[in-house]
Amino acid sequence: MAHPLHSPILDWYAEHNRDLPWRRPEATPWGILVSEIMLQQTPVVRVLPIWEEWMTRWPTPEALAKEPPGEAVRNWGRLGYPRRALRLHACAKAITESWHGEVPSTYDDLRTLPGIGDYTAAAVASFAYGKSHAVLDTNVRRVLARTIRGEEYPPKATTTPEKRLAESLIPPIGAPRWAVAVMELGALVCTARSPRCADCPVSSRCAWLLAGKPAHDGPERKGQTYAGTDRQCRGRLLAVLRDAPGPVEKALLDAVWADAVQRERALDGLLADGLAELVDDDLYALPG
Ligand code: ADE
Repeated sequence: MAHPLHSPILDWYAEHNRDLPWRRPEATPWGILVSEIMLQQTPVVRVLPIWEEWMTRWPTPEALAKEPPGEAVRNWGRLGYPRRALRLHACAKAITESWHGEVPSTYDDLRTLPGIGDYTAAAVASFAYGKSHAVLDTNVRRVLARTIRGEEYPPKATTTPEKRLAESLIPPIGAPRWAVAVMELGALVCTARSPRCADCPVSSRCAWLLAGKPAHDGPERKGQTYAGTDRQCRGRLLAVLRDAPGPVEKALLDAVWADAVQRERALDGLLADGLAELVDDDLYALPG
C-alpha cells in the first residue's frame, strides 16, 4: 500500500543518492553479495577501493573459490572484522560447488549459504534480483524507529515488531529502490549522532521530531574504543601475516605488541577462528 513516507523519501533519493558501483545496473549478484558483506561493519569510503580490487581479481565466485582462504584474508585490507573474508571465501566455494557458480536468487536459497543471515539474504535477493523483502540494516532501523515509532534509536537487536513494520511499508512496486532509499536517508541525513533534520524530506511527519526529539533513555550508547583492545592486537598480528609473502617467525609477531598475555590470547583467537595457521614450530601463516 502507498504510505505517506514513500514519495518524499523516493524523490529525495532520486536527487541525493550516491553513485556507488554495487548499485549500478552492471553490478553482478556476486559483486552485490561481496559489497553487502563488506558494508555490514565498514563505512562506504573504506569499502570502495577494496571492493574494486576484489572485483578485478575475483570477478566470479569460482575465481575466489580457486584460491586458498588466506588470499581472501590477505586482500581484506583494513576493513576490520576479517572473519568476513573467510565467510566470503566459504560462500564462493558453496556457490561454485552447489549452485553452478551462480549466486542463488531467492531469500531461502541464499540463507543456505555459509554465514548468510537474514539481512544479507534479504539485501541480495532485493538488490541483485529485484525481490520484495524488508531489508533491515542499522540505518533503515533507525529511520523507522524515529519517523514511525518516535524513538531516537531502534532496539539493540532486530525485533519481530520492527520486521512487521518494515514489511507493512514495502511498496507494491519498486521494493528494492525503497529499501535502498531508506538506507541512504539513514546514512546521509538521519544519522545516529547528529541527524540533519533540516535537510530531511520527511521532517514534517517524523514522529520523533514532532515529539521534540526525546533522548534515548537507558544506558548511553558508547562508541567502541579500539586502542588497546584485543581487536586492535589481532589486527596488528594479522597485518604482519598479510604483509609477509610467506610464513613468519613468531618473533616478528612478538615485536608488534608488547603485552605478552594479550598477544598470546589474540594469537590463539586468530588460530581458533581459522584466520591464521601454525605451519611449523614458531612459524605462522595465513590459512592455506
Ligand atoms: N547500497 C546497497 N546496499 C548498501 C549498503 N549496505 N550500504 C550502503 N549502500 C548500499
